[in-house]
Amino acid sequence: MGEIITPGDKSISHRALILSSLAVGTSTINGFLKSEDTLSTLNACLHMGVEIHMTPEILEINGVGIHGLKKPFKTVDAGNSGTTARLLMGLLSGQEFISGLTGDKYLRKRPMRRVVDPLKLMGADITGENNADNLPLIINGRKLKSIKYRLPVASAQVKSAIILAGLFADGETEIIEPQKTRDHTERMLNHLGSHLRTDDKSIFVSPVEKLNPSNLNIPSDISSAAFFIVAALINKGSEIILKNVGLNTARTGILEILKRMGGSIEIQDKRIECGEDVGDLVVKSSDLKGIEINGEDIPRAIDELPIIAAAACFAEGRTVITDAKELRVKETDRIKAVVSEFSKLGADITELEDGMIINGSQQLKGNICDSWGDHRIAMSLAIAATLSSGETTINNSECVNISYPEFFDTLSVLRT
Ligand code: S3P
Repeated sequence: MGEIITPGDKSISHRALILSSLAVGTSTINGFLKSEDTLSTLNACLHMGVEIHMTPEILEINGVGIHGLKKPFKTVDAGNSGTTARLLMGLLSGQEFISGLTGDKYLRKRPMRRVVDPLKLMGADITGENNADNLPLIINGRKLKSIKYRLPVASAQVKSAIILAGLFADGETEIIEPQKTRDHTERMLNHLGSHLRTDDKSIFVSPVEKLNPSNLNIPSDISSAAFFIVAALINKGSEIILKNVGLNTARTGILEILKRMGGSIEIQDKRIECGEDVGDLVVKSSDLKGIEINGEDIPRAIDELPIIAAAACFAEGRTVITDAKELRVKETDRIKAVVSEFSKLGADITELEDGMIINGSQQLKGNICDSWGDHRIAMSLAIAATLSSGETTINNSECVNISYPEFFDTLSVLRT
């Protein structure tokens, strides 16, 4: 039996940096995720004049107030991080300065019009290649108008970009979601003193004059915990406890899906910290069975679908994942990447336009695979490799640093 603490939540870490930068005074953040993605957001905040001190235990941020950001002294580089790019697009659109925003070769291919379109309706001035669908972009900040906007895709990044822009608009902005997505921005804004309202379908955001600094405790990332949850479920005789995991209901789709597959996962000591649900998970190896995964399941487990595909390879029967077209515009085309790399291990897996079909219970065999530069593909392959015969090599596996730099260390400790 092993006990592990997976690193801090990536989505919440980005928001803690951005919103603490906008608060008036010093915030302390415990459990901040130090990884390539979150360091992209941290550097952007530094470049906009925010003072940040990092110790091994905490991050201290001297917020400059809602109207205190300065023109970044160079082009903001979001690296591989879609969350950095899209949230900052909303923030930068409402500033009184012009900024440039770019990213790495993967991020420069990802669609940005989904954020640019609503921001333009708010009056934002954003220009760039391909009708501003791709980074690099130039954002000429200005006073924004409030809008009522129905999101065409369920996306927390798009929603959060509009919320951040809405803080700088001339009235109340309403955002209507087709399906519920992670609401960390909303929860943290209210924790810091804003008065954002939500109902069943909509979020209403008004301009704020002041956010309060706070002592934030960031829980472990359920998306990182997911790799070890699946590892424990599929490896006979395993039992692990994962401490202090974030259990926001818009993120716990992975737990429900794995329980439907027959997984033994128990939540202990459920509590609320800084507006977020948190608890400990006890996971025991289980005989999994194939299921259908679609509809409302998808946005609540969007980042976990590659590791769910790994679990499905070891489950009895067929798993069918549909309604997951969004996977094609993640860090890489995750449908193509999962199908290609798991096939190399001998999985019976078929590509669908919006998902995949996996016939489980095949004995997987080690092989030479590639991460496609995508952290979650690398980690999903590594977990599948624990139950494959022979040796598996994962090329380009250093991309785990994007979200989980200690991943391979933790995996090897658990295997000893
Ligand atoms: C995130 C939202 C999701 C998720 C991403 C993180 C966030 O993206 O896939 O890893 O922090 O808001 P989308 O908004 O594109 O669905």
